[in-house]
Amino acid sequence: MTQPTPPFLSGAKPGIGHALEFQKDRTRLMLRGFGEHGNVFAIKLGNQNVAIIIGPENQKIFFLETDKKLSIQEPYRFLRAMFGDVLFLAPHEEYLRQRPFVQELFKREKMLQYIDVMQEVIQAWMDGLGDSGEMELNEQIVYLVQEVAGNCFLGRDAHRQIGTEFWNLYQDLSKGLDPLLPPNLPLPRFIKRDRAKARMLDILRPIIAERRQHPEKYDDFLQDLVMKEDHHGVPIEDEIVRNLLLGLMFAGHETTSGQASWSIIFLLQYPDYLQRVLAELAEVAPRGTRITPKAMVELEHIGWLTQEVERLRPSVDLLLRVVKEDTRFGDYVVPAGWLVQVAQDVAHRLPLYFDRPEEFDPLRFAPDRAEDKQHRFTLIGFGGGAHKCPGMNFANTEITLITALLFREYELELVTKEPYVVHGVGASHPSETIVRYRRKAV
Ligand code: HEM
Repeated sequence: MTQPTPPFLSGAKPGIGHALEFQKDRTRLMLRGFGEHGNVFAIKLGNQNVAIIIGPENQKIFFLETDKKLSIQEPYRFLRAMFGDVLFLAPHEEYLRQRPFVQELFKREKMLQYIDVMQEVIQAWMDGLGDSGEMELNEQIVYLVQEVAGNCFLGRDAHRQIGTEFWNLYQDLSKGLDPLLPPNLPLPRFIKRDRAKARMLDILRPIIAERRQHPEKYDDFLQDLVMKEDHHGVPIEDEIVRNLLLGLMFAGHETTSGQASWSIIFLLQYPDYLQRVLAELAEVAPRGTRITPKAMVELEHIGWLTQEVERLRPSVDLLLRVVKEDTRFGDYVVPAGWLVQVAQDVAHRLPLYFDRPEEFDPLRFAPDRAEDKQHRFTLIGFGGGAHKCPGMNFANTEITLITALLFREYELELVTKEPYVVHGVGASHPSETIVRYRRKAV
């Protein structure tokens, strides 16, 4: 007997399907679908059928069938206008050639170097904040994350050299993100995107040339990337280095700043948990000391906090694949040509896996409860399978250090009491959030 395709959610409008509802509040749409049909259902975005799949078993199929029956490259084709043929946007063979370059950059030894660089950058940012004042959190954390990325990935000198112009150009690049329209339409924002990209590549060109000419002078992320050879012993091409840098900084910057901002907001909304974090900090990494890799591991409460933020406020709240061959999810078959989507917002709130899922409760990740360990694909804020985020440890290390250093040094207060999630085409982030701060007495 042939298996049925997923049932369609009610409320599709002629011609546009669920597109308006999706645009307005996709989390509500997903929750409505889950309520109506359970773990597998379908929506229509224009003429496109999209299967929404929820739950660890379905998520396992989603991640493990990627690059087999499911394509990651096709749904994100629109990003190629920005980054060219790099990472999973490249044909699969090329992706496999490039992947080790990226993995190398997040090896343990490299991570140890980043911990020190990150602390210096965060300290310099706090010095700039001064003793007291008010700040808009997102704006400040986006800036800080750019400083960290620039210093860690390009090195101090090159970061200084690219200046604020480079990061301002990112905004034009991001505004050109459009999953629906053909990327070569002569729209003003697409023209601006192409100009921004050309300028950013020009800014990076002399930096990479210098690294090729004087390899002995540098020992950092960028130098490692420039020196990499593929498995045939062929050095990585300059064009790939430049596009990889653009792609990595894009993948890592608004995503990290979103979750870092939420970590700070949650601590200010839950003073009991903040007290636990402060007590642990005082014991493991008191103010004035450098946070060592050992202390990072011992800052368990911040570690569980970062996981709870990943669960409740994932910066990446949906992932897509194009179905190349009919694929079974539970009782249904999703036919070739459909899109398939995982929805973290719903997946991370399943009562079967998470106790009182709507509540903020980082201790659910402590070893005696370990709710995420029940199934490999329960917590998927960084994806899963072969394409799982290679920057996960980098991001979580950075979020831990920002949280630790900031709360060690300052008394903070939320002036905006209830920030909410703003979804973008790229990463999600909190709405405008004013935070008041005052440096603690020594
Ligand atoms: C909180 C911060 C971050 C979040 C939430 C996040 C989330 C994700 C997710 C969900 C995926 C899987 C995409 C999919 O399966 O379709 C992914 C992949 C990726 N991420 Fe991250 N990411 C973060 C930080 C970073 C950082 C800091 C970097 C690098 C600097 C990075 C680089 C990448 C790359 C290169 C991939 C593609 C991996 C591949 O296809 O093999 N991410 N990320």
